[in-house]
Amino acid sequence: MKILLGVTGCIGAYKAAEVLRGLQKAGAQVRVVMTKHATEFICPATFEALSGEPVVVGMFDQADHASIDHIAAARQADLLLIAPATANILAKFAHGIADDFLSTLYLSNTNPVMIAPAMNVEMWNHPATQANLTTLRERGDHFVEPGVGYQACGEVGVGRLAEPEQIVASVLKLLSGDNLKSQISNLKSQDFAAQHVMITAGPTVEDLDPVRFITNRSSGRMGYAMAEAARDRGARVTLISGPTRLPAPAGIEMISVRSTREMYDAVINRLSGVTVFIGCAAVADYRPAQRAEHKIKKQGRAKMTLELEPTEDIIAAVAADPNRNGRIVAGFAAESQTLLNYAEKKLREKNLDLIVANDIKRTDAGFDVETNTATILKRDGSQVELPLQNKRQMADRILDEILRLKSGDA
Ligand SMILES: Cc1cc2nc3c(=O)[nH]c(=O)nc-3n(C[C@H](O)[C@H](O)[C@H](O)COP(=O)(O)O)c2cc1C
Repeated sequence: MKILLGVTGCIGAYKAAEVLRGLQKAGAQVRVVMTKHATEFICPATFEALSGEPVVVGMFDQADHASIDHIAAARQADLLLIAPATANILAKFAHGIADDFLSTLYLSNTNPVMIAPAMNVEMWNHPATQANLTTLRERGDHFVEPGVGYQACGEVGVGRLAEPEQIVASVLKLLSGDNLKSQISNLKSQDFAAQHVMITAGPTVEDLDPVRFITNRSSGRMGYAMAEAARDRGARVTLISGPTRLPAPAGIEMISVRSTREMYDAVINRLSGVTVFIGCAAVADYRPAQRAEHKIKKQGRAKMTLELEPTEDIIAAVAADPNRNGRIVAGFAAESQTLLNYAEKKLREKNLDLIVANDIKRTDAGFDVETNTATILKRDGSQVELPLQNKRQMADRILDEILRLKSGDA
């Protein structure tokens, strides 16, 4: 496995050394390219010592033509990985600007690209950056989504570089996933090839103040398993995920969100053309009526009352879409009591085609475990029992039922 690692100018540049080591431990041969600004944060000698290869920075400053060697290396590499990626390099990649070695390499590269962005929350949220991310995603570049948390600038929010282990895991998954995908696609039926499947996954997070929030125990595993299963069966997949610890699955359009409002907007804005919607996210039902601008102070021993307001009902909005046509809308019900009654009520009231009912009291099913057991309830009143199995197997069973509904066979 040969990886070309591009490092750009931000605080998280030192973490690229850990990424490099992690890739080497996994058996990869790594060559490094740095932008000039990256050398302000970590010196090329570190990467030269770790990789045992010369590091290219400028386009014209290598007397020994190491830069030309690197272009040759890029052609042989399995992946161009940019970690960390500044807002600046995203903009250059998106617009085809080739004014330094790394951006020139991106343009001359024909291998898969994986990008781990890092920047402060304002840079991340800026419409220019978001538009560049959309361009790069649509072009097929893969992303290791940034995390949420404290940033070097003192802000809290999305934009922190994903952890090095997560970046390494995403690379390994992509490279093995690509091989696996081509093997699987030869063997397994591509029965979702005509479908555009949108899946929501993970929890949503509702902020109380800059440091506190309300969320839930959803790990995102079921939604990610659904997304991977649909991808392997040939679907175009859009995964809209709240914060999770899971790496972004390869070959899937992945949109990261935090709050219910963000998830709602992401879903509604991308709904056109979606033929199957699977609401797997554990969406907050309520959020604080007000988000305090500053940290809420303790008021002695006095009790405190939080005022909550209902959040957007994403799945009901998708089901009520006037352009729904033949789109299948499937949901999940996680309950701790009178499960089937609640699930049946949700199915009817929200006008769903199918609902997967999970008993969250079980320790081997539901939130934050690898396995699941459930009952599928369908609009026509029929039920399908799904015995204990891993979430990926269950995802395939749910897709089977969705396909039966699509073909009018159930
Ligand atoms: C201390 C410091 C930290 C910075 N951190 C980031 C960052 O995390 N993300 C980012 O996009 N830019 C960051 N910048 C700004 C970039 O260094 C700047 O946009 C630069 O032009 C990027 O160049 P490059 O993309 O060629 O490496 C930082 C700048 C400074 C001085």
